[in-house]
Amino acid sequence: MNNPFLAGRTVRVLGERLAPLARESLPGVVFEEGALGPCDLALIDADASPTEALAAIEALARQPEPPAALLIGAHLPTALVKSLMRLARSDVLESPFGAADLALAAAALMAQPAAAGALAAPPPPPQDSRCWAFVGTVGGCGATTLAIEAAAILAQRCKGRRKVCLVDLNLADGAAGAYLGATPNMRLAETTADRIDPAVLGAFSAHVEDDFDLFAAPRDPRAFQRVSPEAVVRMLDVACQAYDWVIVDVPRLRQSWTLDVLAGADEVVLVSELTVPALLSARAMAGEIEADLPEAPPPRIVLNRLNKKMFGPAPSLGEAERALQRKADGGVASDWEAASTSVNLGGPVCHHRPKSKLVKDVEALVDRLVEAPSQRAERPVEVGRPGAVRAA
Ligand SMILES: Nc1ncnc2c1ncn2[C@@H]1O[C@H](COP(=O)(O)OP(=O)(O)O)[C@@H](O)[C@H]1O
Ligand SMILES: [Mg+2]
Repeated sequence: MNNPFLAGRTVRVLGERLAPLARESLPGVVFEEGALGPCDLALIDADASPTEALAAIEALARQPEPPAALLIGAHLPTALVKSLMRLARSDVLESPFGAADLALAAAALMAQPAAAGALAAPPPPPQDSRCWAFVGTVGGCGATTLAIEAAAILAQRCKGRRKVCLVDLNLADGAAGAYLGATPNMRLAETTADRIDPAVLGAFSAHVEDDFDLFAAPRDPRAFQRVSPEAVVRMLDVACQAYDWVIVDVPRLRQSWTLDVLAGADEVVLVSELTVPALLSARAMAGEIEADLPEAPPPRIVLNRLNKKMFGPAPSLGEAERALQRKADGGVASDWEAASTSVNLGGPVCHHRPKSKLVKDVEALVDRLVEAPSQRAERPVEVGRPGAVRAA
């Protein structure tokens, strides 16, 4: 099931050509035959037969509590659109369009409140969601891997009780979708911040496993220019309302929204490794974040890919901590076989190689973060920050 906000909703489709695309776009929805009869959403293909489409809209309008209606077609006749406008919840979608466009339009319509509770109520927002941000200090040090493992471990532990999502903010070329074998659906550039609500969020989500969803953007070299900072922050805000755990894979290079994201996180985990350049970068990044966000929790440093036998003249842990000028908050063993098997099969390491030391080490890190969360200095809640919703 892809979209928790559409699960179990009833959709009727008028127009045979539309049916396969509707099924692809709206997984988890219950489809009924024919345009008439009770439903939450009617999808009407105006191109198939404008006359039938008009009759269907008029029949919907006569219902005491008309469902939402989405009219679809290439050159929509004015009479049809005018008739559609009599329905309180209606929209048009012009061809050509893709599955994601249909999912977004349907989700936005179904999110609008129905007159007398015709729609199932959306799930109540979690009361105490927690957000952890993972940032790499050099390219390839394992930020995405550790973010995925942390999310998957939390999902395993909370099964059936709490929901977890991973948000990959590497908008141009994020790897989380490929690592997890899930299709990226988060089309932030195609919407505006004010349109992002729980239903649109649902349309952006990709299912990884029960209680674990992924938000990742389809590859787009211009994504960082095309997506507004408001949309990123709003998306995280809504994710924090819908999920108990929000794990964010934050790009290493600062974007205009990076500090907002880090300021709203309960934990900032800087992922580094035992090489001199990575340690220098970790020290610099930790200092920069502390200087820019003095009230946020101090970043944690996790050293990834530790090996009993490091190649060449690698720093010891003591030397690493001296270089960092702070204690490391955790270490994660190197396990190339487990990591590469998992990315090739698609899925977290804790599924494919649950006994790996890599997994045990991330479990220990998760335990530490859950049991002893960072304390942040009290600060006024600012609207528009991911932290604002959770603190409210
Ligand atoms: N602890 C580890 N042991 C072995 N390989 C790892 C480990 N952590 C990450 N990797 C591998 O290192 C590569 C880069 O990891 P990735 O998470 O994509 O880094 P980043 O997100 O920081 O660029 C991937 O092939 C990944 O499977
Ligand atoms: Mg990455």
